[in-house]
Amino acid sequence: MSPSPDPSLREHHGGEAAIDLRSIRTFLRQWMRDPVRTASVTPSGRQLARLMVSQLPPDCGRIVELGAGTGVFTRALLDSGIPASQLLVVEINPHLGDFLHERFPGVAVACADARHLDVLAEQHGLLAAGKLDAVVSGLGMLSMNSGLRCEILRAAFVALGERGRFIQFTYGPFSPVKRHEREALGLGVRRAGFAPRNLPPATVYVYERLRSRQVVGVRQPRS
Ligand SMILES: C[S@@+](CC[C@H](N)C(=O)[O-])C[C@H]1O[C@@H](n2cnc3c(N)ncnc32)[C@H](O)[C@@H]1O
Repeated sequence: MSPSPDPSLREHHGGEAAIDLRSIRTFLRQWMRDPVRTASVTPSGRQLARLMVSQLPPDCGRIVELGAGTGVFTRALLDSGIPASQLLVVEINPHLGDFLHERFPGVAVACADARHLDVLAEQHGLLAAGKLDAVVSGLGMLSMNSGLRCEILRAAFVALGERGRFIQFTYGPFSPVKRHEREALGLGVRRAGFAPRNLPPATVYVYERLRSRQVVGVRQPRS
């Protein structure tokens, strides 16, 4: 990782628990206010952040990050070379929104609900030159009801290009987007990897549109 200009970003080298002490405190406070939505007691660790970023498609440009919390994935995206101008971060909690604004002054932060991500991406001019390449989601999908989960995925795939990816982690043993939900949305899933040193350990899944198989070699009837 490249060094950060923010002096409060002293790395917490005791483990993969979180990016720094101020993030941990902020996150814990927000979890105490709203445990269901915050969905985790601590921010994600660097191992999970690296695994999420490794799933970006090649030549990835435009990205929306959902549920950024204190910005562990935001930091990893920027460190991987994604330009700040190509990134929109969506976070529903206003305290965390302010934290992100302060920590990443060059990145657009929308303090809003992820279910409107297609509209937000349009409003921020991210879709002016084409659709999104990836949505990186830190949302606690398992603590959402099925309706909200599908609404968020539907909005994501409105904004994503044909080969766009929705990258999601979960603490659970299975895909957090259920089979019937994937079928209703026309999505395929791939288990991308496991981050055992994350607290708690987490698995990353990648969702993409199912492409209808091209039927080749079918003889055309003579006219
Ligand atoms: C499990 S935390 C992950 C935070 C961060 N990505 C990380 O990995 O450390 C989930 C985050 O999603 C946010 N969130 C929950 N529901 C949301 C929604 N509907 N729209 C946008 N953000 C939401 C929460 O406020 C919280 O910051």
